[in-house]
Amino acid sequence: MARTIAVFNEKGGVGKTTTILTLAAGLDLMGRRQGRDWRILVVDADQQVNTTQMLTGRSDFGPRSSLTCLYSDNLYNADQLRSAIVPSVWGENIHVVPGDRSLRSVPRRQVTLPRGDYRLADVIGEINSGYDFVLFDTNPKWDSLSVAVFLAVQAAVVPVDLRQFAIQGLSHMLGTLIEKKREYRHPDFNIMGVLITRFSGQLAGMRADLEALRRHKAFSSLLFDVLVPESIVVDYAQREGVSLFEYAPRSKVSVAYARFIGEVLGREART
Ligand SMILES: Nc1ncnc2c1ncn2[C@@H]1O[C@H](COP(=O)(O)OP(=O)(O)OP(=O)(O)O)[C@@H](O)[C@H]1O
Ligand SMILES: [Mg+2]
Repeated sequence: MARTIAVFNEKGGVGKTTTILTLAAGLDLMGRRQGRDWRILVVDADQQVNTTQMLTGRSDFGPRSSLTCLYSDNLYNADQLRSAIVPSVWGENIHVVPGDRSLRSVPRRQVTLPRGDYRLADVIGEINSGYDFVLFDTNPKWDSLSVAVFLAVQAAVVPVDLRQFAIQGLSHMLGTLIEKKREYRHPDFNIMGVLITRFSGQLAGMRADLEALRRHKAFSSLLFDVLVPESIVVDYAQREGVSLFEYAPRSKVSVAYARFIGEVLGREART
């Protein structure tokens, strides 16, 4: 059965999409290097479709050929989602459930449809035996679709940019996840960790916030050791439509993300 991981943060631009894309590319690379050929499914649950655009070169899938297809009818089944899966241009082991602008309408439908909150979890539970990892990108807003993703995964990674009043926001985000775990009785779910992204040691305020997080009772144990640095390389790679590992494997940001993936696998092994 696949390991299922989502990125969540209600703040925009903190590196959710970059983290999911780089995790997919890195797991693919590591799997191939170890001769294990991990199969990776990336589900784009964000109507901005950045992940879909990067992994497929397209952003025009429409409601029937994207994650939205699961929310069109009272009836649903795994084959609907299976038929939406497309290959990624990043490698044959990476598959994609595309996002679409129509995902905007899903939260409204979800509340009226039978098993609205749970249908994504139900279907992922059926198709995940074909994969080693299922990774979810999400909206910068907590809504019913976030709940659907939360119910479909075992683990959350919360990327944080310390520029953005991060500690307050992080408290709120982690509080929401813990509350939902209780409310929905989802005991398999865990917060895998908090990843500092876009870190710049030159900004004194950032260093101070990092120290505060490292001392914080509740947060310190969740922090990944690695800090992902702010780097223009991320922008360049995205413009080229390729992964960080392909664009600049030896750049600091790629090396940091490779360490992050090592930490993810280490934390996975412990659960
Ligand atoms: N480590 C980094 N260094 C520099 N720029 C970065 C870094 N990580 C992400 N970015 C840039 O910041 C912007 C936002 O990143 P990204 O799209 O990953 O964030 P997000 O959390 O998914 O945003 P949204 O909430 O809008 O979906 C992008 O332009 C990306 O290129
Ligand atoms: Mg994003």
